[in-house]
Amino acid sequence: MSRRLKKKSPEKKKEDQRIVRERVRRIALLTSGGDAPGLNGVIRAAVKTAILQYGMSVFGVREGFEGLLMDGGIFPLDMASVRGLLPRGGTILGTRNTGEYHAFFERGTAKRRKELLWNGVRALNEYGIDALIAIGGEGSLYVASEFQKYGFPVVGVPKTIDNDLAATDYTFGFDTAVTIATEALDRLTTTAESHDRVMILEVMGRGAGWIALAAGIAGGADIILIPEIPFSIGKIVEHIRLRESTGARFHIIVVAEGARPKGRKAELTYTTPKGKKRLGGIAAWLAGELGGRIENEIRYTVLGHLQRGGSPTAFDRILATRFGAYAVHLAARREFGRMVSLRTPEITSVPIEEAIRTYHRVHKTEGMIRTARSIGLTFGD
Ligand code: F6P
Repeated sequence: MSRRLKKKSPEKKKEDQRIVRERVRRIALLTSGGDAPGLNGVIRAAVKTAILQYGMSVFGVREGFEGLLMDGGIFPLDMASVRGLLPRGGTILGTRNTGEYHAFFERGTAKRRKELLWNGVRALNEYGIDALIAIGGEGSLYVASEFQKYGFPVVGVPKTIDNDLAATDYTFGFDTAVTIATEALDRLTTTAESHDRVMILEVMGRGAGWIALAAGIAGGADIILIPEIPFSIGKIVEHIRLRESTGARFHIIVVAEGARPKGRKAELTYTTPKGKKRLGGIAAWLAGELGGRIENEIRYTVLGHLQRGGSPTAFDRILATRFGAYAVHLAARREFGRMVSLRTPEITSVPIEEAIRTYHRVHKTEGMIRTARSIGLTFGD
């Protein structure tokens, strides 16, 4: 039976021709900044969606923006490249959170910035790339937005274990970090109990204390110290005494690396063997301060990069998969300059520039803070 085709209006025909002409055929992916469990899940979902749903060719950029701007490699990715990737931590593309491009985007001259951007655009053009999917945190997404301003089409995917971007309910990697920190607290609790000790666990969290707060509640900590609520040693000692008066003989403290005592402006840092300043040291400092004021023995543990390595949780695998697939849908629809975002239960998108302007800190009236206070936890304030 023959079916008569409906005649297209001239406008519709023009629109269809435009879509075919401007179709995104080749995309590149890069991961930039500190890694997070789930990065490989994003790469896997993006590659699969691009190939299976849109017939695109996909490329990977080695070592993030550092690689792209400083002449790093671009190589093809296919279905075989992403097989078995979902449970794997890290990123098969490699990443950098230090290097020349960082220095120049923070302090470089406008001329040098332009040179670096042009370097990157030229590398992408050599491979005929139509759009770049940049998976990174606030700093990397800022570089992504510069590419977009420069005229190169970009889609952003947020990444930070700190969960400190307001433009998305969650970032992948956060749930894994909280799970690892919770398990560490569970383990510290049994040994603290055996020895009647105070155990301090230092977790990541530069300007936002979400990991400490969530893990502190999940792991049954007694004291949670976060960057948003400056603490006083006196209040911590008071709380320990109060707990002792109810029969408690051991105490668990979780402290975010960016937490500070009242009156102290800068966070504690240490210098790496390569001379870089990094956050850390608050647990050791706290142990020293509490040492002379309470009778219990005190030990501290710095969880560090254990929070960023290894297999992502089921929640992070699902989120990473949804983000990766959606980023490719955005590219296919030519919705550039946008970042994927979770607005539970939907995945949506927001302008990258808007997303990097809104940092998500723990507010004093936050529901989890109120819950913690209701069950007798203190924030040392
Ligand atoms: O931003 C994520 C983060 O994990 C911070 O919480 C932490 O301070 C930092 O990265 C550590 O970075 P590096 O890998 O350079 O030590």
